[in-house]
Amino acid sequence: MSTFAARTISTGRLDLVPLQVEHAEEMAAVLSDPALYAFIGGTPHTPQALRSRYQRLTAGSPDPAVTWLNWVIRLRDEACLTGTVQATISSSGDGPLAEIAWMMGTPWQGRGIATEAARELVGWLSRLPVRTVIAHIHPEHQASAAVAAAAGLTPTDEWHEGEIRWHRSTRR
Ligand SMILES: CC(C)(COP(=O)(O)OP(=O)(O)OC[C@H]1O[C@@H](n2cnc3c(N)ncnc32)[C@H](O)[C@@H]1OP(=O)(O)O)[C@@H](O)C(=O)NCCC(=O)NCCS
Repeated sequence: MSTFAARTISTGRLDLVPLQVEHAEEMAAVLSDPALYAFIGGTPHTPQALRSRYQRLTAGSPDPAVTWLNWVIRLRDEACLTGTVQATISSSGDGPLAEIAWMMGTPWQGRGIATEAARELVGWLSRLPVRTVIAHIHPEHQASAAVAAAAGLTPTDEWHEGEIRWHRSTRR
C-alpha cells in the first residue's frame, strides 16, 4: 500500500498539512474541549500524550495492508491549526477503500472549515486508485452528517459500532 502517501492539499482558505509529531503541542490546545469527544468517545489528550499518539500515527500502520494518512488543517489567513482530517486506506472486494474522519477545534466550528477540508480530501482520494470512501457517523451527529453529505457521501443501512456507515463510490 506504499502507493498512498499524504501530501499537502490546499483549498481556498486551508492547507491540509501531513501530520507531524511537532504539531502535537498546538493541536492539544485546539482539541482541548471535552465536548469534542461526545460522539466519538475519549477525552482530550495532554500535549505529551498527543505527541506519543502522533509518533504512533506517523510511524504508520503495523499492518502492511493498511495505510494511515493524517493531516492537520491550517487556516492560512490566521496562521493557526484548527483541526484534523484522516483517511485509513485498506483493501476491499471492490478495490482500495478509504475510511475518512474529521475533527474541528471548538473555536473554529460553524465556519464551514470541516466541509471545505472534507470535500477536498474526497476529491484528492478520488484521484488516487481509491474506489470507495466511507465514514462512520453517530446517528445524532448532525454536524458530521452534514460534512459527509457535502463531501458527496450518502448514508447506508449498515451500522458499525453504533454508527451509520456513509458511502461514496469514486468511480466516474
Ligand atoms: C463534525 C465537525 C468536524 C464539524 O466541524 P465544522 O467545521 O463546525 O463543520 P462546518 O462548519 O463545515 O459545518 C458542517 C455542517 O454542520 C452544521 N452544523 C455545525 N454545527 C452544528 C450543530 N451543532 N448542530 C447541527 N448542525 C451543525 C453546519 O450548519 C453545516 O451544515 P450546512 O453545510 O448544511 O450549513 C465538528 O463538529 C467536530 O469536530 N465534532 C467533534 C469531532 C467529531 O465528532 N468528529 C466526527 C468524526 S466522523
